[in-house]
Amino acid sequence: MFDGKGKHVLVAGGTSGINLGIAEGFAKTGATVSVFSRSQDKVDAAVEKLIAHGTQAWGGTADVRDPDAVQAVLQGAVDANGPIDVLVSGAAGNFPAPALGMSSNAFGSVVGIDLLGSFHVLRFAFEHLNKPGASIINISAPQAWLPMALQSHVCAAKAGVDMLTKTLALEWGPMGVRVNSLVPGPIKDTEGMDRLLVDKSKAGELIKTVPLQRMGTVEDCADVALFLASDYARYVSGAILPVDGGWSLAGAQIAMSHAMMGS
Ligand code: HXC
Ligand code: NAP
Repeated sequence: MFDGKGKHVLVAGGTSGINLGIAEGFAKTGATVSVFSRSQDKVDAAVEKLIAHGTQAWGGTADVRDPDAVQAVLQGAVDANGPIDVLVSGAAGNFPAPALGMSSNAFGSVVGIDLLGSFHVLRFAFEHLNKPGASIINISAPQAWLPMALQSHVCAAKAGVDMLTKTLALEWGPMGVRVNSLVPGPIKDTEGMDRLLVDKSKAGELIKTVPLQRMGTVEDCADVALFLASDYARYVSGAILPVDGGWSLAGAQIAMSHAMMGS
């Protein structure tokens, strides 16, 4: 589907969970993959995993909230692997908390990572994109359009990410750059689900709210990322594409809120 040979894929926040699964999906196609996040240990482990797929990989550290650090890490990736063909922006933070239980810094930390961080990554990567033909994939969440209790910060931030997808698809389309959002649903064995499903005994109830009757996997997300980056998606830009088994269609937010609260 996606031929990675000779392509450079950069995954921001690509050192664990869904984003690392996406990075591995690209590595398996023969693409050269760069990843970065805050923790050097996570970066080292991710690079080792990527290299095990038989491709070239590079890793660096940066906090996406810091524009200078983002510019430096992008330069490092480009110096190592050349212009970027596919950019995946997935760094994110989450914790369940009521609005009344959050300080300004708490709300701002999630908006800072998810939304401002995405802006930094896309804004400063643009000059390094292999244009025309480059593809950008923002990793969003159903919270972008499903209001969820205990998730006011994430809902606001991810709604912003999806609007960034749409506005930059408008601005950058004429320069041959496609911008789309990939929206994972409940994905098993991830930090995000571990944090949100406070009462683990409710996992069965959660699965009943998914039309396809199972949690997703990181491979489900990786396959759709490969599609979005491929020539099969050459006329797809500004799309918000759920990879959620139909979970966000109806009622899921109420069930999820109950699961999170353990009720
Ligand atoms: C209220 C909280 C809190 C909580 C932290 N804070 N946890 N407030 N309830 N449970 C507050 C802190 O007290 C602090 O405010 C502020 O948030 C910042 O906390 P720090 O720990 O200093 O921030 P930082 O080190 O920058 O870490 C950011 C983080 C952290 C978001 C808080 O959890 C993180 O690094 N997360 C990255 C990994 C992650 O979350 N992965 C899941 C992504 S899943 P004060 O006022 O005390 O200074 C996802 C969607 C899943 O995004 C969707 C599933 C369907
Ligand atoms: P995860 O494993 O915690 O992934 C988050 C990644 O972002 C990590 O590599 C983390 O590494 C990095 N990161 C966090 N804060 C950062 C910062 N300030 N600067 C740079 N990198 C940072 O979580 P996940 O559950 O797989 O989620 C991955 C993506 O999928 C997120 O965008 C999330 O919103 C989305 N999503 C997840 C689910 C789900 O079911 N899990 C559902 C919907 C959407 P460091 O800690 O080293 O920085």
